[in-house]
Amino acid sequence: NGSDADAPASGSGGADYGLVTDGTLTVCSDIPYPPFEFEGGDNGTGYTGFDIDLLDAISKKLDLKLAVQDTGFEALQSGATLLAGTCDLGASAMTITEERKANIDFSDPYYDSLQSLLVRADSDIKSIDDLDGKNVGVQQGTTGEIYAKENAKGAELVQYPSDGELWPAMQSGQIDAILQDQPVNLVHEKADSDYTIVETYETDESYGFAFAKGEKAELREAIDDALQELRDEGEYDKIYDSYFAA
Ligand code: ARG
Repeated sequence: NGSDADAPASGSGGADYGLVTDGTLTVCSDIPYPPFEFEGGDNGTGYTGFDIDLLDAISKKLDLKLAVQDTGFEALQSGATLLAGTCDLGASAMTITEERKANIDFSDPYYDSLQSLLVRADSDIKSIDDLDGKNVGVQQGTTGEIYAKENAKGAELVQYPSDGELWPAMQSGQIDAILQDQPVNLVHEKADSDYTIVETYETDESYGFAFAKGEKAELREAIDDALQELRDEGEYDKIYDSYFAA
């Protein structure tokens, strides 16, 4: 499959975007990360969530099938997984950062986020200043890890490769707090009243879909166009409300 920037439309399965697999939009993600990507749903990929539903709608607009691979976060956010050609793009609630832009070209922003601190409801931790000597769980390679390193003075950071390890570690008492994206902590707060978000941090983060730097420009532009159409048609809001309606 050529990567010629002027490649003509192939006629079947959408235009020739230099896809890893013809006719399929192959997405790398790091799962679980509810409500953005987790197991379940009925779109045929085995996965669902805000990111996945958006990409399902986008792939339909591009006349492509959707496939999702669970590849982990660390190497995805560094650009390594994408530069290795594993998939066409990464969708992993990934914050657009200047550092990541060294290896990644991002789509237009599709979700605004912030950081937060989750603790047991009966905890003596009331703010980030109370973390001295406490075990604080973060996912490796995330903006939450960076925020904790810079702001949780004296805290013992416990870094987990998968976000799915944070919640069990919290429940078993291995960690005293979780510092991560607020919508993800909110899932736990809503599900279990023994836990509460004591602080949020206005980090002004926006998520973008990630592409290997300098590659797939045509695909990225087509996805930006499809995203804009979904916003104009009200379809973006429908998907948004299905996960985030108050
Ligand atoms: N938004 C944060 C970041 O970009 C966390 C993303 C983690 N995503 C995931 N699917 N585990 O660093």
